[in-house]
Amino acid sequence: MKFRAIMGALCAAGLLGGVATAQAAESLEVLHWWTSGGESKAVGVLKDDMTKQGYVWKDFAVAGGAGAAAMTALKTQVISGNAPSAAQIKGPLIQEWAEQGVLVPIDSVAGDWKANLPPQIDKIIHADGKYVAAPFSVHRVNWVWINKAALDKVGGKAPTTWPEFFALADKFKAAGIQPVAAGGQPWQDLTLWEDVVLSQGADFYKKALVDLDQKTLTSQQMVGVFDTVRKIESYMDNGRTGRDWNLATAMVINGKAGMQFMGDWAKGEFANANKQPGTDYVCAAVPGTAKAYTFNVDSFVFFQQKGQKAATAGQLALAKTIMSPEFQEQFSLYKGSIPVRLGVDMSKFDDCAKKSYADEQTAIKAGGYVPSLAHGMAQPDATAGAITDVVTKFMNSTQDSKSAVEALAKAAKTK
Ligand code: BGC
Repeated sequence: MKFRAIMGALCAAGLLGGVATAQAAESLEVLHWWTSGGESKAVGVLKDDMTKQGYVWKDFAVAGGAGAAAMTALKTQVISGNAPSAAQIKGPLIQEWAEQGVLVPIDSVAGDWKANLPPQIDKIIHADGKYVAAPFSVHRVNWVWINKAALDKVGGKAPTTWPEFFALADKFKAAGIQPVAAGGQPWQDLTLWEDVVLSQGADFYKKALVDLDQKTLTSQQMVGVFDTVRKIESYMDNGRTGRDWNLATAMVINGKAGMQFMGDWAKGEFANANKQPGTDYVCAAVPGTAKAYTFNVDSFVFFQQKGQKAATAGQLALAKTIMSPEFQEQFSLYKGSIPVRLGVDMSKFDDCAKKSYADEQTAIKAGGYVPSLAHGMAQPDATAGAITDVVTKFMNSTQDSKSAVEALAKAAKTK
């Protein structure tokens, strides 16, 4: 590695000229959707690490929250025989890609992973008994972000129940502050909707969104979920259609809006704007979800490269770096997440990250640790897509909750 680092540095400085061609540094084309301020800073840590190790980082960033556009670009690349070295993929989609026979295992650098990962997550990154993905961090999805000055202005406190939430939203409204910042994009609609499903209890969430139990999906309680979403929607502004999530976060950061429902990548935006939890903003679990935790774990998979049977040296170095304790710490500090690797020192993390970590442990023990549907952790792509369509249609029309529930039950049967 040392030799490679030296070679890389010399090549970068142009010192090896023509002689370097036989030892040309390996290029790593990396497809991801981390393009907001906080996200770019976080992925920049990996880029710098790999460059220091002598590899050439070829950034293939495809903007678009939650990665729908990135996944479309990836399919095109792979079909046309130009698979990137690595791509940001997670959840059941890892298995779907592995089944295509286009991924390479990375077991040779994963010797200590099993002992250092929560079992739920270790399972997701395996296919056919081999490691095929390297995990970055754990994002908690069920958060509400609140502007602290706005909260103080209306004399409110972070809501723990829906009635408290609506009372606070009314106070913001009366004070001329947009109560809820949102971006009208399908995945953002689904993020809010799954939060409300979770507020009915982790068991209800599991039955509905993991088991796709028809009785739960068509229950009166599920009708109530849509009713609550409709009511929350009435506190959003009309300009939300198509708005990116980070612009909605900016509305909370600058006090135009009071609250946002969003996973803790939003914290990466607060951090990037030098805002401190407790002083500038408040992170609170979505009302009714204090003991539950919707997890969302980003990971990279590695594609077989032309003329190669196994993972290349660069792909292995990438996987190894992603799981190293030093990288895990710095990446999450910028990203708003917590390290997925167990036992990483949390002393440099802020109170929201510490709360995330503590709540994760509680949720794991109490059975409240559930995969996020909106972030590709709970269902295969087709099923998740069909459910997303139902929720988005509901939020962009005047459809009543009962007929939305009927559509939901049908969508859940999509394979
Ligand atoms: C990803 C996060 C990302 C967010 C917004 C989520 O699905 O897991 O890493 O920051 O989408 O793009």
